Amino acid sequence: MLSKKVEKALNEQVAMEGSASNHYLAMACWCDREALSGCAQFLFDHAEEERMHMMKLIHYINDSGGFAVTPAIKQPQLEFEDVFDVFDTAYQNELKVSAAIDNLVEIADQEKDKQTYQFLQWYVDEQHEEEVTYRNLIDRIKLIGIEGRGLYFIDKEVETLAATKAANEGK
Ligand code: FEO
Repeated sequence: MLSKKVEKALNEQVAMEGSASNHYLAMACWCDREALSGCAQFLFDHAEEERMHMMKLIHYINDSGGFAVTPAIKQPQLEFEDVFDVFDTAYQNELKVSAAIDNLVEIADQEKDKQTYQFLQWYVDEQHEEEVTYRNLIDRIKLIGIEGRGLYFIDKEVETLAATKAANEGK
C-alpha cells in the first residue's frame, strides 16, 4: 500500500516521463525536417521508451492500491539551433530526470516503503544508462563537428546506435 506522499511523488514522476516522451517526439520531428533520418529514428525510439517508463509507473501505482493520474499534454520546445543543441537539451533533461528519481528514492526510503524503493532501482540503472548514452553522443558530435560532411557522419553514427539498441531490445 502506498502512502499519500509516495503516491503523489510517483504521479509527479508519471508526468515527468510523459513530458520527456513528448520532448523526444518534438526533437525527432525537428531532425526529420532537417533530413537527419538516423537522429530522428533514435529520438522516435526514445520517445517510445519514455512512454514505456511512464506506463511502468502507472501500472505500479494502480497495482499498489493507488490512483495513477494521466498527465496533461504541454507543448514541448519545437525548434533547436542545431543537432548539438538537440542532444545537449536531451542530456540536460536526462540530468533533471535523474535528480527527480534520486529524490523519489529518498522519499520511498523516508516512508519506509521497501517495495517502491526496490521498484525504483530499475529507474536508477536506466537513468545511468541514458546519461552515458547522451554524454557519449555529445562527445562524438564535438569530435566530428557539425560542419559539412560531419553532419552526415553524425547522422550515420546515430542511425547505427538506434539499430544496435533496437536489436538488443529485440525490436
Ligand atoms: Fe525516463 Fe529518460 O527518463
